[in-house]
Amino acid sequence: MKLIIIFTSFFFVFQVVEVSSDGKLSSLDRYLSNIPMYSANYLVIASGICPQVRKTKKAPSKYVLKKNPLFANTKNIKRGESLYQKEAKPTACKMCHGVQGNGNGRLARGLEPAPRNFTCEETMKFLSDGQLFWIIKNGSKGTAMPAHKFFMSDKDIWQVIHYLKRFAY
Ligand code: HEC
Repeated sequence: MKLIIIFTSFFFVFQVVEVSSDGKLSSLDRYLSNIPMYSANYLVIASGICPQVRKTKKAPSKYVLKKNPLFANTKNIKRGESLYQKEAKPTACKMCHGVQGNGNGRLARGLEPAPRNFTCEETMKFLSDGQLFWIIKNGSKGTAMPAHKFFMSDKDIWQVIHYLKRFAY
């Protein structure tokens, strides 16, 4: 896995550093955050794990076959974005799945299993709309993936699915 870190120096010169593993990223990350000049200024772009080993429970067959009933129009995608990036409760999806959808959100470090990397086409292409729907609604037992059925309507969930599918395709 290749991870790329871009940070701006005090003089706003972009520098790119490539590191090869999560371990190295976190030590470098820690190191940089101790330098006041960099702490506010660097941006981590990580490609995430791909393909991901996935042990997630399969949704019941009547769900697996479900297709997203909403159109992938701007209104639904925008609403999905706003749920994903900030509104979703208990925690906005981006906190674990990442602003870029790559599974490297702020709360993702150390989670086992790791949050799904939505940018990974090799993993995502096998997941039906209904599978995504069922896990978002009910959570994935024994993992950090929470159930959203108490906070999100079915419509909210289908909207967020239209948005998260954009990350891979
Ligand atoms: C606290 C961290 C956390 C938050 C917040 C979170 N997730 Fe997850 N999510 C995970 C983890 C961890 C997994 C991996 C679960 C597994 O391997 O079974 C996951 C898996 C998934 C999957 C994969 C399902 C599958 O069958 O492979 C989807 C879809 C998903 N999350 C969507 C969302 C959406 C949408 C939101 C926001 C509404 C969200 N998640 C919020 C941690 C989180």
